[in-house]
Amino acid sequence: MLQDQNTEITSKSEPSKNVGRLVCVGTGMHLAGQISTLSKSYIEIADVVFSLVTDGFAARWLDAINADVRSLQSFYAKPDEVKNRRDTYSEMVNAILTEVRKGKLVVCAFYGHPGIFACVAHMAIKQARAEGFESNMLPGISAEACLWADLGIDPGNVGHQSFEATQFLLYNHIPNNCTHLLLWQIALAGEHTLTQFSTTTAKLEILVDHLSQWYPLDHPVVIYEAATLPFQQPRIDTIALSDLPFAELRSISTLMIPPSKKLTLNQQILDKLGITADTIG
Ligand SMILES: C[S@@+](CC[C@H](N)C(=O)[O-])C[C@H]1O[C@@H](n2cnc3c(N)ncnc32)[C@H](O)[C@@H]1O
Repeated sequence: MLQDQNTEITSKSEPSKNVGRLVCVGTGMHLAGQISTLSKSYIEIADVVFSLVTDGFAARWLDAINADVRSLQSFYAKPDEVKNRRDTYSEMVNAILTEVRKGKLVVCAFYGHPGIFACVAHMAIKQARAEGFESNMLPGISAEACLWADLGIDPGNVGHQSFEATQFLLYNHIPNNCTHLLLWQIALAGEHTLTQFSTTTAKLEILVDHLSQWYPLDHPVVIYEAATLPFQQPRIDTIALSDLPFAELRSISTLMIPPSKKLTLNQQILDKLGITADTIG
C-alpha cells in the first residue's frame, strides 16, 4: 500500500515517459495568412514552440502568439563554420525531443508544409513515436501549392514531377517531359557535401547539359519564388534553359520546367479498355 502511494507521488511529480507530445505544423508561405486554424491553435497552447520560418516578420508573429518560441535557425553553420547539415538536423531533433521528454506539449512550426522537402519534422516524429510519445504532423500550404496558384497551372492537366535538384542530378531519374517538372533547391543543385549554401555556374551547366536530353536549350523555364510578405509579389522569371547557369538563384528559388512534348495515348490500354482515341476529351 505504502509502495503504491509512493509510486503515485513519483508519477505525479515526474511526468511519465509518454506524457510529452509533439505536433509539427506548417505555417504556410505567406506571413500569418496561410496557416490553418488548427495549426495556429496548437501554437497558442504549446508549452514550447520550435520554429523554422523564413524571416524576422514571421518569427515576431510567432512570438506574439506564444511566449516560448525557440528558433532552430541557430543550429545551422555560423558564417565561418563548416558544418554538415545532417549534424544540424540531428541537433535540431535532439533539442525538440529533449523538451518532449520533459512531458511538454512541443509544437514545431515550419514554414510551408512541415513534411515537404523538409526532413526535420519527419525525423523528430519518428524518434518521438519510437520513444512512445504521441506525435503527428499537420499540413501547411507549400511553395508548390503557391506555385500552381501563381502560375495559373492545374498540375492535373498533364501531370507533374518533383525532385530535389541535387538528387535529380546524382541519381538516374528520367523526367517525363510530357509533364511539368519541378526542381526544388535549385540554388543548391549538385551541392552534395551538405556544407555549402549555394551551387556554382559549372554545376548548373552540368544540370543544363543533362536536361538537354529531354528539353531544347531554348526551352522556357521558370524561376519561381512565392511571396512571403504582404508587400511582395511572387518572382516569376521565364528564361531559356541555357541561361540557367547565369540566373540569379536564391535559397527560396524553385525551378519549374514546362512540358516539351505533348501527351500521347497508350494504344495498348485503349484497346484493352475498348476505348477509341476520338472519344477522349
Ligand atoms: C527545404 S525546402 C522547404 C520546402 C517547404 N517545406 C515547403 O513546404 O514549401 C526549401 C526549398 O523550397 C522551395 N521554396 C522555399 N521557399 C520558397 C518560396 N518562397 N518560393 C518558391 N519556392 C520556395 C525552394 O525550392 C527551396 O529551395
